[in-house]
Amino acid sequence: EINLNVAQANKDVSPMLYGLMTEEINHSYDGGLYAELIRNRIFKDSKTEPEGWSLVKENSSSQADIKLIGAQEHVPNDERRNAINSAMQACLRLTVEKADGNVGIANEGYWGIPVKPSTTYKASFYIKGTDRREPLRWPWEPKPTTPPLPVIENNTPGPITVSIVSNDGKTVYAKGTINLEKSTYWKQYEVNLTTAADIKPTKDARFVISTDRVGVYYFNLVSLFPPTYNNQPNGFRTDLMNMLVDMKPKFLRFPGGNFLEGPKLTDAFPWKETLGPIANRPGHNGSWGYRASDGMGLLEFLLWAENMGAEPVLGVYAGYSLEGDHVDAGPLLKPYVDDALDEIEYVTGDTTTYWGAKRARDGHPAPFKLQYVEIGNEDWFDRSNSYDGRFKQFREAIEAKYPNITCISTIPKTQYPAMSVKGKDADVVDEHYYRDSWDMWENASQYDAYDRNGPKIFVGEWATREGKPTTNLNAALGDAAWMTGMERNSDLIVMSCYAPLFVNVSIDSSNGKRAWQWDSDLIGYDALNSYGSPSYYVQKLFNHYLGNKIVPGTVKNTPVQNRPLTKQDSAKGVTVKTVPMLFYAATMNDTTGVLYLKIVNTKAKKETVKINLEGVNGTEPEATMVVVKGNKPDDTNSITEPENIVPETSTIKGIKSSFTKTFDPFSVSIIEIKTR
Ligand code: AHR
Repeated sequence: EINLNVAQANKDVSPMLYGLMTEEINHSYDGGLYAELIRNRIFKDSKTEPEGWSLVKENSSSQADIKLIGAQEHVPNDERRNAINSAMQACLRLTVEKADGNVGIANEGYWGIPVKPSTTYKASFYIKGTDRREPLRWPWEPKPTTPPLPVIENNTPGPITVSIVSNDGKTVYAKGTINLEKSTYWKQYEVNLTTAADIKPTKDARFVISTDRVGVYYFNLVSLFPPTYNNQPNGFRTDLMNMLVDMKPKFLRFPGGNFLEGPKLTDAFPWKETLGPIANRPGHNGSWGYRASDGMGLLEFLLWAENMGAEPVLGVYAGYSLEGDHVDAGPLLKPYVDDALDEIEYVTGDTTTYWGAKRARDGHPAPFKLQYVEIGNEDWFDRSNSYDGRFKQFREAIEAKYPNITCISTIPKTQYPAMSVKGKDADVVDEHYYRDSWDMWENASQYDAYDRNGPKIFVGEWATREGKPTTNLNAALGDAAWMTGMERNSDLIVMSCYAPLFVNVSIDSSNGKRAWQWDSDLIGYDALNSYGSPSYYVQKLFNHYLGNKIVPGTVKNTPVQNRPLTKQDSAKGVTVKTVPMLFYAATMNDTTGVLYLKIVNTKAKKETVKINLEGVNGTEPEATMVVVKGNKPDDTNSITEPENIVPETSTIKGIKSSFTKTFDPFSVSIIEIKTR
């Protein structure tokens, strides 16, 4: 039995309760939301082999090779001559000694190039054509130790074919040409490639640039964009952005997560180098084993938030990186604090400010709204205990310049009392929870007992980690139970967001290597298709069906279940541990009188629950009910079965101030009741 006291619904639900968290992990942007289709477009992703690139020849009798130039740390002089700017120092060289038919370079994309019917792709690249002769050398340069290679004449000017081709080379899906001018200096060319209406969508394709003439060709910044969300330049993948917009998140926490910090101090998110034309973005070492192109730069994050109607929650680098290096508070930390102030100015400053004017030049004159800035990420890992001083230095500088901004501490007092900030409490602290479903069910009520006089809580990363690469129904039941706890306590929880958001689910068929680093993610995709996990739907519904007031309630006779004991339980002599099976939260819109009741039944049998609405003058007899459910806990969605578990909406009858309802096994149910 659940008693809901509607008359006592006077605590506000946080207006920013549900949002999103993002970082470059699992190919979230490169090979994910960022729509660029070319992998390793400026050839910096590897030091020796041009990752993602290969040589293609129409006839095996052609003589040609490709070589990565200038990616090594100490670049020889003749290789440095091929740099375009400080961002584009490496390039790809195609040497064609004999061309029998077309010869060229191919890019495999991020586990395939997606081909869709009647679609126009924008290709662009820098290219130059030269001959092959021994380079001129300064007198002090060492003589080459290898004999000179035979001279190749420069026959490069003329048409260059640009195409999207099946991986077996047999089907050309789209084709165009550029006319390479006679010049030994770089020039950027662009061409549109359009597919026919009758082709079947596939990702078994590659991008090819080819020639039928001898010479030495150099390539850089090779780019291929499909149509993007709202046709934004340097924009986002449409299907993924639509899924996010559908969630109606209130905020976007970026750029991490670990990605904010990087493994070393020099790998922190280099926001200044992520601004402006992509030709000026060198990319940087990510935190998850691959390089980030930084095509998804600071402005793109902000536009992403804007597209969703969400507010940015900006994580600023706080002088601590994942491998443990840190900068102590004091004068050495000042440049980092100044950098954060510049970053905030880029986000919020008007065009009279230095960085606000830069943002305007980058295409967005209007400042973005910013209420929350998070200082670092998970600084409880900092064993030197330097966070107290670092946080204080950042907070004081930020509050002095931006009094309306709230600084979030990454060390919650409840979990790390010895490490949390001393003196003046942080106004908001960020708590992270990665748990299994048992732990979620056991702790779903943890916030009921939290001190209301302490800091507000940002649950900045949380997830039930069951199922991979995207989570399953049981995880969604863990998540839903946990969310009922956050929602009932949303006077305290100002914001919450699941992590990680994205996963590229591809597996390389040649070596079995997975595209992802973190099992248990919310939204899965490959180059062509995407889908939401059961939890994606649960989160979307929780946010859609949400009032502005918390309806307090009590439960009687909630069914319980025994959870398996851990080693620690046995060591402590615990013999039985029960956790609830049924969870609820209720909120109300105090203007419309609509009440949103969420019920989670985590186990295998139906549950009949009596629901009493106290303090209402009656209800409409019919209500809308939306249910996410399945037959067994490991039911899930996938690329091949994207809609195995999706919400079902129905109208239910017999709603009164006191009514009884039976909830399906393994289900999350939301009832929208019109009260009077
Ligand atoms: O969400 C994955 C990682 O988990 C985040 O990068 C980090 O903040 C946390 O440890």
